[in-house]
Amino acid sequence: MWCRILSSSFFLRLRSPNVAAFKSAALAGVFAVLLFSVPGVAAQHTPLTEQQVDARVNALLGQMTLEEKIGQLAQLPGMAFGPGAVKPEEHLRKGEGGSVLWLNETAKINQLQRVAIEQSRLHIPVLFGLDVIHGYRTIFPVPLATAASWDPSLVEQAQTIAAREASAAGIRWTFGPMVDIARDPRWGRIVEGAGEDPFLGAAMARAQVRGFQGPYVGSPEHVLACAKHFAGYGAPDGGRDIDSAYIPEELLRNVYLLPFHAAVEAGVGSFMSAYMDLNDVPATGNRFLLHDVLRGEWGFRGFVVSDAFSVQGLIPHGFARDPQDAAYRALTAGLNMDMASGIFLQNLGPLVKQGRISPAQIDEGVRPILATKIRLGLFEQPYVDESRVEQVLNAPEHRQFARTAAQRSMVLLRNENQLLPLDKKVSSIAVIGPLADSKQDTEGSWAVMGQPSDAVTVLEGIRNKLGPGVRIEYAKGPEIKRDIPSFFDVFRPGPKAPPQTPAEAEDAFNKAVDAARRADVAVMVLGELANMSGEGASRSSVDLPGRQQQVLEAVVATGKPVVLVLINGRPLNLAWAAEHVPAILEAWYPGTEGGNAVANILFGDANPGGKLPVTWPRSVGQIPIYYAHNLTHQPETSRGFVSRYWDGLSSPLYPFGFGLSYTKFAFSNLQLNQTQVRVGQKLDVAVDVENTGSRAGDEVVQLYIHQQAGSASRPVRELKGFQRITLAPGERKTLHFSLGKEELSFWSPQAKKWVEEPENFDLWVGADSTATLHTTFKVNP
Ligand code: NOJ
Repeated sequence: MWCRILSSSFFLRLRSPNVAAFKSAALAGVFAVLLFSVPGVAAQHTPLTEQQVDARVNALLGQMTLEEKIGQLAQLPGMAFGPGAVKPEEHLRKGEGGSVLWLNETAKINQLQRVAIEQSRLHIPVLFGLDVIHGYRTIFPVPLATAASWDPSLVEQAQTIAAREASAAGIRWTFGPMVDIARDPRWGRIVEGAGEDPFLGAAMARAQVRGFQGPYVGSPEHVLACAKHFAGYGAPDGGRDIDSAYIPEELLRNVYLLPFHAAVEAGVGSFMSAYMDLNDVPATGNRFLLHDVLRGEWGFRGFVVSDAFSVQGLIPHGFARDPQDAAYRALTAGLNMDMASGIFLQNLGPLVKQGRISPAQIDEGVRPILATKIRLGLFEQPYVDESRVEQVLNAPEHRQFARTAAQRSMVLLRNENQLLPLDKKVSSIAVIGPLADSKQDTEGSWAVMGQPSDAVTVLEGIRNKLGPGVRIEYAKGPEIKRDIPSFFDVFRPGPKAPPQTPAEAEDAFNKAVDAARRADVAVMVLGELANMSGEGASRSSVDLPGRQQQVLEAVVATGKPVVLVLINGRPLNLAWAAEHVPAILEAWYPGTEGGNAVANILFGDANPGGKLPVTWPRSVGQIPIYYAHNLTHQPETSRGFVSRYWDGLSSPLYPFGFGLSYTKFAFSNLQLNQTQVRVGQKLDVAVDVENTGSRAGDEVVQLYIHQQAGSASRPVRELKGFQRITLAPGERKTLHFSLGKEELSFWSPQAKKWVEEPENFDLWVGADSTATLHTTFKVNP
């Protein structure tokens, strides 16, 4: 699809883009060091008032020609194009380009900025944007993983570091956070979001916006954030990336839009429209989304950029007749900036001349872009200090935090007979699997500026941990690869080793099993390559790719204790493993320090405390599966029904919110300060949590509610509160949660508005979405 769009676009007679290879007290301590230790950085400016910004925007608009205004609405790819194509410099000289993306060299950024500032008539600076999704050079775990930390402060701090590195390198705008709710693990981009739940998703959206932007747009060492992909991109038919999404308004408002709204409330400065069509109207030309909801209802004052080439994409969508029509529909729907397709640049001028678009509409489009540049301080500080870049990127304290983030993101799915943590005094270990020693795959997808050489693999992490006294035997086993190559493979740097021949793969299989036979314990590192997850990486199966399942079964058959470490970005088929492999650790794509973090958990220097941000299916046939489904006229547990399928259970393999620890927690004493409240009043919920084991550990205490009746069926459970806490052995804490209008309201399809209804509610508190500690309360009129 990319290729189709690229080849038909004005900008890209491009063949292949010429982009260079593209809580604790401890946390607070690291963060404090980060904040105050970077030399040469002083506060650049304080936030301007609305009036100051408006006055400067008006003054600029007063001097700009129509062409210069339209120029600000165009985002140019930063690379040179194919034969006959115009270089970004040439556009910028003429004031044709408000922003440039996909540039990753600081010197080039400065050079282009110089063209815009010194050679264009009005000297308006360029806003440089890039996908800084889970780190710039220091790569943090993928967003699905950090959501599994259930720790918004950790997520905020990780994105603060990402912003520090990106801004030091000249990037002032990231295309993140991705806040798309995803309930279908076939969809490759589930890895980029916070999973299936709107409450958790909203918390992660807010945390990321705060981390990227800091306290205000223009905070020193921060970047502009961009909430994407607006909206419904996470619900494509069949999990096929960019396919149509059909989401009824009640589901849209109660689920899919909530994290976007949270991002607006957190002050996000920009939005990105999605590729797919939502209920038959492509998001990039969807006035209901971009105008009515975003600006009308939510009062968003920033600007909206299209996804790459998606203005152009309105034509193949069968929505716009031609490029001019595409430009017309996108602008009038509420889009401000055309990412990379050149359609605005070429067509808005003629549309104004024809009187189809008014000069005032162009002004409205440009206003928030200029305002953002002013707020960012770009006019005052357009250039970056190239000498400082290396000092900031991959700084030791950034890496240290990346390790903490990875540890806190991992989810222990199984631990029979307390196989984990392993004894460091073990005499030999077999480390097996195609992901055990792959640096690039340890970082995951969208590690645009990550250097694979920085990454620590699981094999290296185990070696670092155990030293030379323990015999560690590595066996890769049969390699895995995508059947259909990824668009992003061109960005995978380094020489490509020739793939294994069938005979070599067979040999590698046998060597893996032999290695396990010789060892005291086998650590199997299986999952998916980074390019099997992410954009353009949807699947029709969720099985372990290649022969990994067979190797796993053969190694388990040796009778040796086996620990399965998963490196991946979506729930995979673990039905067999969940019964036969004694220990399973979901490590996700853990980032630069991933291997050290895995080793810390495997050998007990860290205690896992992450929880699933997604429901884990038993098989691909259960998808979509999510915990917050509605009840039916015949609830599953009544009348002896055990499953909605006759060929398997309809319950998931692992529920949403699930994750084990090396210690145990007990919940008791669930109390409400009142069992009846009036509409609009708040309710306090208290619960005691005790660490009943012998190690310190973390629990994520989760609160769920269910509205028993009302103007619409409500989900069987909905997450409405969570807190991650650390408890010493034997320690007990009383936690408090507050429930009020926000938590108890929903968008009613009958009332066609948000309502808090006077009804009875169930409430549960516990360690996952199957929590059993229960009480009820009533909301009165
Ligand atoms: C396409 C992706 O869908 C989007 O998430 C990304 O930000 C843009 N390309 C820019 O790289």
